[in-house]
Amino acid sequence: MKTILSGLKPTGEMTIGNYIGAMKHWPLTQGKGNKTIFFVPNAHALTARQDPKEIRKRTLDLAAWLLTVGIDPKESTILIQSMVSAHSELFWILDNYVTMGELNRMTQFKDKSKKLGPEGQLVGLYSYPVLMAADILLYDSNEVPVGEDQIQHVELTRDIANRFNKLYGDTFVLPKATVPKYGARIMSLDEPSVKMSKSDHPDSYIALGEDKDSVIKKFKRAVTDSDSVVSYDKAAKPAISNLIEIYIGFTDKSIEEVEVLYEGKRYGEFKQDLGIIVSDKLAELQHKFEDYRADEASLIEILEQGSAKARQIADKKIIEVKSKIGLL
Ligand code: TRP
Repeated sequence: MKTILSGLKPTGEMTIGNYIGAMKHWPLTQGKGNKTIFFVPNAHALTARQDPKEIRKRTLDLAAWLLTVGIDPKESTILIQSMVSAHSELFWILDNYVTMGELNRMTQFKDKSKKLGPEGQLVGLYSYPVLMAADILLYDSNEVPVGEDQIQHVELTRDIANRFNKLYGDTFVLPKATVPKYGARIMSLDEPSVKMSKSDHPDSYIALGEDKDSVIKKFKRAVTDSDSVVSYDKAAKPAISNLIEIYIGFTDKSIEEVEVLYEGKRYGEFKQDLGIIVSDKLAELQHKFEDYRADEASLIEILEQGSAKARQIADKKIIEVKSKIGLL
């Protein structure tokens, strides 16, 4: 039996990149004898100053999205990070089993801190990957399905776990990141050399909540490469290759099938079809999302039940860890 765990930080709107690269794969891991845990790492949202009302809203939005994509509270444990205090407790302990040198190498921290002034370079942003390690290690997770940008954090988690196990005997399972073959890194629609991001300008990304006209318009405007053949070649044709990855992410067709389908056709036709495919699927998802989101009391009830279940596992791990390192 495997334990599979993942989460998405509730900051900003979610994009189709989050969906194709991570979320859409999560429900497929349910059943099959796996233990599946999906959570909203809301404490991770504190690393940038936010309006408290916004954090609350986005946390519940994300929880509703988990249900929308098919995570079933009967099959999976769904929890909110801040409802299980063991996460922050283990975080502090693990902070003492990781060096500043290791955290200095985290590319996400390097990128973010470069963009922020000294005022924004909070210690929490720096130790963000250690809280993530605590999230993963508390539940003996074997696999962590994530987008490409999180691989480095899962590898660090593995190093921390290994170090701890060597010092105190087997305590933590060594996790590994699993990323989808295609779609793990969806790029910006107008700049295919940078990752699609909700913090970029609106034409560069498509949000999960976006309406039909806007989706179609954005794909129409999306940059393409200098030739006009709809074929996949990431190095030579990064723009159309990115759009093909989005296409297969929303249709479950293979790259070859898409190439055959659009043989002899122009980019314009492909982009128009893509706009319709994506906006239809988003409309279907948005409809479900609205249903889950409308009943906040039931949503919170699901999260409280899931978090209570999680506390039983996490608290046990904390007791084991504390006793091993000599904390009463
Ligand atoms: N860092 C992830 C993100 O940016 C969120 C996250 C926090 C996470 N803890 C995790 C993902 C543990 C997987 C496992 O979205």
